[in-house]
Amino acid sequence: MFCYNTLKKVLFKFEPETAHNMAECSLRIVGKCKILKNIMEKKNFNTNSKLSQELFGVTFSNPVGLAAGFDKNATMVKAMPSLGFGFTEIGTMTPKPQDGNPKPRMFRYPEEKSVQNAMGFNNEGAHKVLKNLKKVYPASIPVGVNIGKNKTTPEEFALSDYKMLIKKFEATSDYLVINISSPNTPNLRDLQNEKFITELFTMAKKFTNKPILLKIAPDIEVQVAIDLCNSAVNAGAAGIIATNTTIDYSLVPNCQDFGGLSGACLTDKSYTIFKEIAKELYGKTILISAGGISTAEQAYARIKAGASLVQSYSGLIFEGPSMVRKINEEMLELMAKDGYSNIQEAIGADLK
Ligand SMILES: Cc1cc2nc3c(=O)[nH]c(=O)nc-3n(C[C@H](O)[C@H](O)[C@H](O)COP(=O)(O)O)c2cc1C
Repeated sequence: MFCYNTLKKVLFKFEPETAHNMAECSLRIVGKCKILKNIMEKKNFNTNSKLSQELFGVTFSNPVGLAAGFDKNATMVKAMPSLGFGFTEIGTMTPKPQDGNPKPRMFRYPEEKSVQNAMGFNNEGAHKVLKNLKKVYPASIPVGVNIGKNKTTPEEFALSDYKMLIKKFEATSDYLVINISSPNTPNLRDLQNEKFITELFTMAKKFTNKPILLKIAPDIEVQVAIDLCNSAVNAGAAGIIATNTTIDYSLVPNCQDFGGLSGACLTDKSYTIFKEIAKELYGKTILISAGGISTAEQAYARIKAGASLVQSYSGLIFEGPSMVRKINEEMLELMAKDGYSNIQEAIGADLK
C-alpha cells in the first residue's frame, strides 16, 4: 500500500487519461513478461476454492471482476489475473472505430474517491479488437465482451450494430454485455425501453446460445428498471449488470455537468437499486453488481444481496493493485464469520 500511495502521488499529477495510458502501458508489459506476471499473480490472485464458482459454463476462481471501460481494446487481458481479478470485461467496443468525445473527458475527485468520464466509447473498432482478443482468448480467467452502437448509427439501425457485434464476438467470449446505459453516446439510454430490449434479445436468441447480459444505468426509476430487467430475462438475457455510471451530479460537489460519475459517490445509489432488482430477479437470472465497490464489506454486501459476481473500475484508481487481493482475502474472513464454506452459500443469503 505504501508503494501505491507513493506511485499514486506521481500518477495523480498527470491528466487522468494520461495516467490511464501509462497504466495500460505497464499492464501490457506485465502481460508479456512471464516472470513479472507470475510473481504478481502468485501474490494477488486468490486460488482458495471457497471463492470459486461455475457460471455460464466456465469457472470464476473469484467473484471480483474488472468492469468495462478500463480495457476497451482488449490489450490488457493477460495482465488482469496479476491484479487479482477473477474475470475481466473488455469494451465497450463498437462496430467501427471511434475517437470518442473531445478531451478532457475524464476527471478525478480524490477527496470523494470518485471519477467522472465522458469518454464516448473511444475504441479501435470491432475488427481490431477481435484481432487483439484472438491473441489471448481463451484466457486463464473468463472474458466478457461489452458491446455498444456507434455514435453515428441512428437509433432505428441500433439493432443491426448489436447483431453484427454479437456474431463477431460470440466465439471469442465467455459472455457478452449489451451496453445501452452509457450516458456518453447521445440518445443511447433511450434504448433502455422494453420494446428494444425484447427485440434485441429475441433476435440474439435465434442465432446464438452465448450468454448475453444487459447492463443498466443507476438513474432509472426502480420499477422501470425492474420491468426492463424482466423483459430482458423473459426475452433470453442470461443476466443483468447493475450499474453503469450515474448522471446524478449532486453526488460530487463542483463536478462537471456532463459524463457519468463512478467510484465512492456511486456506492449507495448502485447498491440501493441493485437490492431492489435482486429482490425481483434473484434466482431467475445471474446478477452482477458494479458501482463504487472497493472493499470486501461492499463486495460481500452485494453478494449477500444476490450478486453472483461484482465488478470494479474506479476503486482500482484509488486503491491500486492490491485492492482485489484484499477484497478476496477479507471476504473469506467475512464468509467464515457467517459460517459459509463457499461463495455459493453467501450469494443471495439476505434473500433466503
Ligand atoms: C473512465 C471510465 C470508462 C468507462 N467506460 C465504460 C464502457 O466503455 N462501457 C461500460 O459498460 N461501462 C463503462 N464504464 C462504467 C464502469 O464499467 C462501471 O459500470 C462504473 O464505473 C461503476 O463502477 P465503479 O464505481 O467501480 O467504477 C466506465 C467507467 C469509467 C470510470
